[in-house]
Amino acid sequence: MNGADSARIRHFLRDDDLSPAEQAEVIELAAAMKKDRFGYRPFEGPQTVAVLFDKPSARTRVSFHTGIGELGGLPLVVDNVSALMGRGEPPADLARVLDRQVAAIVWRTSGQELIAEMAAHSRVPVVNALTDEFHPCQILADLQTVHERLGRTAGLTLTYLGDGANNMAHSYLIGGATAGMHVRVAAPPTYQPDAVILDQAAAIAARTGGSVVALSDPVAAATGAHVIATDTWVSMGQDGKDERVAALKPYQVNDELLQHAARDAIVLHCLPAYRGYEITAEVLDGPRSVVWDQAENRLHAQKALLHWLVSH
Ligand code: CP
Ligand code: NVA
Repeated sequence: MNGADSARIRHFLRDDDLSPAEQAEVIELAAAMKKDRFGYRPFEGPQTVAVLFDKPSARTRVSFHTGIGELGGLPLVVDNVSALMGRGEPPADLARVLDRQVAAIVWRTSGQELIAEMAAHSRVPVVNALTDEFHPCQILADLQTVHERLGRTAGLTLTYLGDGANNMAHSYLIGGATAGMHVRVAAPPTYQPDAVILDQAAAIAARTGGSVVALSDPVAAATGAHVIATDTWVSMGQDGKDERVAALKPYQVNDELLQHAARDAIVLHCLPAYRGYEITAEVLDGPRSVVWDQAENRLHAQKALLHWLVSH
């Protein structure tokens, strides 16, 4: 493949692959597509979009499958992609096979370097459907949800509590900073965000008017927050559940913690949720929780993202 060709393709591998203006455009498009759900058909033909999984999924799988169909396309959902490459085939070669047949490639895998290699050799957009490092599609849906509920994202404070070193924490830092939010991550010392990602998020925030900070005090982090977010304490592929639960217990999102947040604060969780661990049943199933809208918005946000990527 010609390097110049691949350089023009837009991929979405991490949250800052969209500039602040582009991120806002995609979220606005997502809102429009939510209102006119069957009115956009960029994949009419139908063109095929490959959706590849190396890890389990419910929401990502259903929303991409449904969304690609609603965009007029044909979803090719493949589980256990590692098995396809189990014969020693590198992501670069899979990219060169797929990009002659499909309009876009969506991949959930472990290492960010794998999806980066795929993208470097693909002449069609590659979308990160979760890696160990980032979950950027989820953050687009989360920003859409915050916008729907609170009317804006820029200038609001989003506090994420729990495993500060996981994909959701990193994507909140980068994606939230891109949106001009004030992002606080509260985690114990051994579960703090990656220092490089924190620095990158701070640099983005300096341009958007947002801010980022990593804290260890959950109450200080939650105080005055407009959005409270959490995620599982044991991400896919991680060991040491007992140790994690013991360390992360003080970061549980519960009614007591929520008393410190803003009066109209909303609660996000990307799901699947573990009631009694990172969040109580009272909060997850209570009035501040917007998790079902958040899960639905995966559909609209990803449709908007795919539409945007193939038209740029
Ligand atoms: N939130 C999310 O990505 O859910 P799944 O792992 O079920 O796709
Ligand atoms: N941090 C979680 C997110 C699941 C959507 C995981 O990687 O398992």
